[in-house]
Amino acid sequence: MQVRSVILLAALSATAQNAPHKNTCTVHAAGNGIDDAPAILAAFAKCGEGGNIVLPSANYTISRPMTTHLEGGQFDLHGYLSFTPDIYYWIANSHITGRDFIVDGHGTGGVFGNGQVWYSWARGAGNLYGRPMSVSITNATRAVVKNFRIIQPQFWSSLVWNSTDILLTDFYVNATNLDPAANGQNWVQNTDGSDTYESARITYQNWVYQGGDDCIAFKPNSTQITYWAVSEFGQWGVEFDILQDIHVEDVVVKNHPTAQLDGGAYFKSWIGVNVGIPPNGGGGGSGYCKNVTIKNLHIIDATVPLLLTSEDGFPVPTTYYAYLYATPCRLTYSQLNATYANTSPFVWDSVHFYNVTGTSAKGQVIDFECSTAAPCEGWTFSDIDLTPVGGVKKTGDTVCHNFFDYEGLPECTA
Ligand SMILES: *[C@@H]1O[C@H](CO)[C@@H](O)[C@H](O)[C@H]1NC(C)=O
Ligand SMILES: *[C@@H]1O[C@H](CO)[C@@H](O)[C@H](O)[C@H]1NC(C)=O
Ligand SMILES: *[C@@H]1O[C@H](CO)[C@@H](O)[C@H](O)[C@H]1NC(C)=O
Ligand SMILES: *[C@@H]1O[C@H](CO)[C@@H](O)[C@H](O)[C@H]1NC(C)=O
Ligand SMILES: *[C@@H]1O[C@H](CO)[C@@H](O)[C@H](O)[C@H]1NC(C)=O
Ligand SMILES: *[C@@H]1O[C@H](CO)[C@@H](O)[C@H](O)[C@H]1NC(C)=O
Ligand SMILES: *[C@@H]1O[C@H](CO)[C@@H](O)[C@H](O)[C@H]1NC(C)=O
Ligand SMILES: *[C@@H]1O[C@H](CO)[C@@H](O)[C@H](O)[C@H]1NC(C)=O
Repeated sequence: MQVRSVILLAALSATAQNAPHKNTCTVHAAGNGIDDAPAILAAFAKCGEGGNIVLPSANYTISRPMTTHLEGGQFDLHGYLSFTPDIYYWIANSHITGRDFIVDGHGTGGVFGNGQVWYSWARGAGNLYGRPMSVSITNATRAVVKNFRIIQPQFWSSLVWNSTDILLTDFYVNATNLDPAANGQNWVQNTDGSDTYESARITYQNWVYQGGDDCIAFKPNSTQITYWAVSEFGQWGVEFDILQDIHVEDVVVKNHPTAQLDGGAYFKSWIGVNVGIPPNGGGGGSGYCKNVTIKNLHIIDATVPLLLTSEDGFPVPTTYYAYLYATPCRLTYSQLNATYANTSPFVWDSVHFYNVTGTSAKGQVIDFECSTAAPCEGWTFSDIDLTPVGGVKKTGDTVCHNFFDYEGLPECTA
């Protein structure tokens, strides 16, 4: 799945843009696999407040989780932070915390995740505990991360958590399995480009993502997010989860031969009963998603270009999961079964689509499986042109269950 986008909606703080730098701390890679984390942490301690931390082009070995803090400073990362492939070591993540800061990868720097060892080790098993995220912007406000590359991430490439007013621009993320043992299966699931959680006013701009999962996924309590793709809500147990004011524009989503694209815009909510422990299990949460705009979306060969699952068994109609991914992830969700179909209380309200075009790899182009417990309401559609495989539109290729008060989708059948 690959996504490109251009959108200009950055609420950049002047402070973050023009911070005068008091000090500069330059860290040179020690080389020979020697851990560079202590030197980098020392540089942040010295220059993280109003200073400039510079890592010239080189590979920096990171063999421990790092939390770095920046206040009014800038981090210039010209090379890669290269995570050691010691899969048993990583439990915690690397966090960047602070306010009014800039992280600039200059188009040559970022994170090399050594994800291949994880892909081969997990062999497609999905959410194995402890997989680290490459970058987590945590407890941050007014920050910019730009010109950043994330290669072979082990898990979600980036997370924005408990943060506000963050711009992530000009990102290149590529998680590609190179182990022939995968034999055509998707071994790079959960390598999301970015996830937001408990955050507001986050802007994603100019992302290129290749990988086996969501480009951008919005987790609970994400509001005023600008950009792309929706997934997995109500996952975290009994909490009330809110998703609001999401704007997505100018996005191209493309199928990849070894990671079948399930949905172009994919909305998921959990069943209304708690089964298992998130992230592998979930359910029982409630909440709502409101005021989503999706504009100029082009989808190439998704299984179902527009997809919402909350009630039952897509895309394997003979089984009844609350929702599920493509075949490689099925095991993960197999504990969710027909007993709990149609129980999701999560409300999907006022989602608006403008100019959505593309093709489906199968017969359906739209499948909105809203739950009887919380029907979908107030959705609008204009200029939708989605063609099923074979090129001939037909009755039944647009399915909307428990779908009320919508406009502009006359082909919708229940
Ligand atoms: C860093 O490592 C990658 C992968 O091993 C290599 O392609 C790249 O040239 C290295 N970069 C530098 C600056 O040494
Ligand atoms: C974020 O803030 C919370 C509450 O102050 C704290 O417990 C947590 O450790 C912080 N996270 C990081 C990565 O600093
Ligand atoms: C969120 O971050 C702020 C600092 O920006 C901190 O004061 C607060 O405790 C954090 N909340 C949680 C739940 O970590
Ligand atoms: C991602 O990496 C793979 C393997 O290196 C490469 O073949 C592919 O072209 C890359 N994708 C993009 C979008 O650059
Ligand atoms: C989301 O926000 C609501 C309302 O502020 C709060 O009650 C709930 O605990 C939050 N849930 C999460 C997962 O942060
Ligand atoms: C819906 O969200 C957009 C941002 O995507 C915001 O500009 C607009 O004010 C919101 N509309 C309502 C009715 O809240
Ligand atoms: C519709 O979206 C496509 C990209 O998918 C874009 O090229 C085209 O200009 C858009 N049309 C309008 C009227 O905005
Ligand atoms: C479905 O859930 C019910 C109730 O928890 C359980 O008894 C049953 O074994 C489950 N079926 C499958 C196929 O997992």
